[in-house]
Amino acid sequence: MSSIGVFDSGVGGLTVAREIIRQLPDENIIYFGDTARVPYGIKSPQTVIRFSIENILFLLKHDVKLICVACNTASSFALPVIRNHFRVPIIGVITPGAREAVYASQNKRIGVIGTKGTIKSRTYENEIKQLDPKVKVTAVACPLFVPFVEEGWLAGEVVESVAKKYLQPLRDAKVDTVILGCTHYPLLKPLIQQVLGKQVVLIDSAKQVAFEIKKILGSEDLLNRGKSGKPACRSGRPVCPAGRHKFFVSDNPEWFSSLAQRFMGIKLKNVKKAQNV
Ligand code: DGL
Repeated sequence: MSSIGVFDSGVGGLTVAREIIRQLPDENIIYFGDTARVPYGIKSPQTVIRFSIENILFLLKHDVKLICVACNTASSFALPVIRNHFRVPIIGVITPGAREAVYASQNKRIGVIGTKGTIKSRTYENEIKQLDPKVKVTAVACPLFVPFVEEGWLAGEVVESVAKKYLQPLRDAKVDTVILGCTHYPLLKPLIQQVLGKQVVLIDSAKQVAFEIKKILGSEDLLNRGKSGKPACRSGRPVCPAGRHKFFVSDNPEWFSSLAQRFMGIKLKNVKKAQNV
């Protein structure tokens, strides 16, 4: 039975995989985390494009019917270039997040935070402007957020003062909506919300991406016909057995497994090192 392929530069894409599992409980996931070459956020567009093509070729060996580029940096740099070169639909996180933000914003001032690469690419900005040219976008790179999340520093004095510094331009611009344009940032949501104030809407593209995948697979009659009929999630935590899904990395499966609990809410025991990626 065909699966949904998901790739990311590393462990962060599990936030997207989790949401796909929640919304599509009858689907199987093949996840690839490029842990040997993470982070993508500081690499050149050419390098991120090359890595992304290699990741897609790996997933295609596993009979996938759709590929989700969970990484914002890869979605920004690679997706526009490679999207039409493969036989399966490839969906990224930028368009769904931008669409949701334009829909949510009342004052037409939207903030975007992401890696240096994502912000430099201006992909979110262009996408938002295409949807509504009147929107004013303020985009800020927050490179230290990724290591903070991987170290489990989700709150406390240090991360709070960094967040205040990074997010000040968004406060100055009086944005009412902010796109969390990086796989890791949903884990910092409480802190970001506290710094920006509760009136600001935070957009986590994972939910929208999963919804979009459901729509595409439905319209192409590619959805698995499961018997479950039951939601795969109770009180926000996936209960779907991780064993049904497959997780590959290009390096250090143990490190990936140890972080998976934080990103996905479940323990992943069967993470395999991919060969020849
Ligand atoms: N997954 C990346 C993203 O969403 C963050 C980590 C990295 O820099 O590779 O942009």
